[in-house]
Amino acid sequence: MSEKVTALRDELVSKLNAATDAAAVDALRVEYLGKNGSITGLLKGMKDLSIEEKKDFGQKVNVLKEEAGKLIADKFEEIKNAEIIAEINSMPEFDISTPANLNRGSYHPITLVQRQCEKVFKSMGFHVEDYSEVVTDYECFEALNIPKHHPARDMQDTYYLENGQLLKSHTSAAQNAIYKKYKDALINEGKPIKAIFPGRCFRNEATDACHENTFFQMEGVMVDKNISISNLIFFMKTMLSEVFQKDIKVRLRPGFFPFVEPGFELDISCLICGGDGCPSCKHSGWLELCPCGMIHPEVLKAGGIDPEEYTGFAFGLGLTRLAMMKYGVKDIRDLNSGSLKALAQFTDDE
Ligand code: DAH
Repeated sequence: MSEKVTALRDELVSKLNAATDAAAVDALRVEYLGKNGSITGLLKGMKDLSIEEKKDFGQKVNVLKEEAGKLIADKFEEIKNAEIIAEINSMPEFDISTPANLNRGSYHPITLVQRQCEKVFKSMGFHVEDYSEVVTDYECFEALNIPKHHPARDMQDTYYLENGQLLKSHTSAAQNAIYKKYKDALINEGKPIKAIFPGRCFRNEATDACHENTFFQMEGVMVDKNISISNLIFFMKTMLSEVFQKDIKVRLRPGFFPFVEPGFELDISCLICGGDGCPSCKHSGWLELCPCGMIHPEVLKAGGIDPEEYTGFAFGLGLTRLAMMKYGVKDIRDLNSGSLKALAQFTDDE
């Protein structure tokens, strides 16, 4: 029996090595770990074994199950990274060595993109909020429906202070304070909550061309009676079309985040080919841009808002990624380099 376990492991490893995209890896996850998967199937074949054999074999299958889960997750990560690198490589070249005019001050490219987004959202009646970089565990996780030991915390490892506070791993950490700040005006005066909050975020990451331990996001929320996914799509489409100065099509795919239900990944039509398909978008016509969703009832409740009466949407736009896409910056580290030669090349195109 235990040869079966080893054989299945070897088979999975070789199939994973051959997989080249996320869909293929997901198919392997279902094939091996799904309800009718081959690893799950091993347990079903145990009925003819003695108690001792069952114990030994069951243990081996469980170890394999855990290992298979990890192998599959690692492969997903590897493919995702390769996709990001391919996307960055296919962007128009930005030449770090171009001489810049250093006699004149200039805005950082992230500031430029942030201001463009703020301008559009302000014109649509959103407040722009500033929020602390040091937050509590409650703000960053608990209030967002991510309790202690929830696996979603693994993706958001950050830097902790000795007093238990932490450097915020996402701008969503400000959501709870924003709801509390505006809920009275919502409930008593019927004023919808409309706010964006750009900010610096931190994660315990090894840095490379597409990962940084310090980056910028811009969160946005809108809460009122009868807010729906159509409102979310409208605001995102309007903002992105302004920022990129062309009509941008958007689409939503399902995505999981504990603080929204349903959650989505928002894709935009490819900036290079306009959706026809080209190497930049891997011929799909779409680029992944921004996770979003309808605010989870528990998150509204934590902010003092009754989810029976109010609904809302939230999105978390990666400002660093947006700046890289807009200006064709291929190495994320250039943005934090402090090198005036690189950074002074960008100007506000308004
Ligand atoms: N906070 C998430 C992250 O950094 C991104 C995110 C996802 C924000 C979905 C949202 C949302 O507001 O609705 O990974």
